[in-house]
Amino acid sequence: DKIHYADITISAVSPSQYPDDGIPEIVLAGRSNVGKSSFINTMVNRKNLARTSGKPGKTRTLNFFNIENELFFVDVPGYGYAQVSNAEQEKWGVMMNEYFATREELVLGVLLVDFRHEPTNLDIQMYEFFKYFNIPVLVVATKSDKIKKSKHNKHTSMIKKALKLESEDTFYPFSSVTKEGRKEIWNEILAYTRN
Ligand code: GTP
Ligand code: MG
Repeated sequence: DKIHYADITISAVSPSQYPDDGIPEIVLAGRSNVGKSSFINTMVNRKNLARTSGKPGKTRTLNFFNIENELFFVDVPGYGYAQVSNAEQEKWGVMMNEYFATREELVLGVLLVDFRHEPTNLDIQMYEFFKYFNIPVLVVATKSDKIKKSKHNKHTSMIKKALKLESEDTFYPFSSVTKEGRKEIWNEILAYTRN
C-alpha cells in the first residue's frame, strides 16, 4: 500500500525520448484543470511530485513518472484550454497521436472528467480516441468532494450516459481532498499492470 519510490523519469516531447524500460504505462488524459497532476500526487501520496496549479495549461509535455519500477503514470497536457494557440493545439495533437498510435507499453487509459459537470464534447472525443486505439479506459470523476453524497448516483449516471461508457470500462468517483476512490483505483490499475 505504501509507495516507496516515485520519481519523474523524463518530460518527453517526442518518441525518441520515451523511457525504454518496457514497464507498463498508464496514461492520464483529461481537460485542463480537471485534476490530472493532483490525481498522480494523491495516488502516490506525494504533495508535489506532479506540478499542480490553479492556472490551466501547466503541463506541456508527456511526463513519465516511474512508480516503484513497476509502472509509469504518463501525465499529458490537458485539452480544451481556450487560451492555447492553434499552433500549440496542433503540437498537442501530433504529440498525442505519436504516443497513442505506437506505444506498446500502454496498458490502460485513465480518462479524468469533472464529477460536477456533464462531460464536454472533447471528453467524449477523448473517450472515443481511446476506444479507437483499443485501449481499456478507467473513468475517474474528479473533485467528488464538491458533490453531496446524495447526488453521487445522479452524477454517475449522467457521466456514464454522456460518454456511452462500455461495460468493460470502469468508473470511479475520486477526490484528492478526501482520497475517495484511491484504493479501488489502485486495485483496478494493478490488475492491468500485473498480468
Ligand atoms: P493541467 O496540467 O493544466 O492540465 O491541469 P491538471 O489536470 O493537472 O489539474 P491540477 O491537478 O493542476 O488541478 C487543478 C486545480 O484543481 C488545482 O487548483 C487543484 O488543487 C484542484 N483540484 C484537483 N483535484 C481536486 C479535488 O479532488 N478536489 C478539489 N476540491 N480540488 C481539486
Ligand atoms: Mg497537470
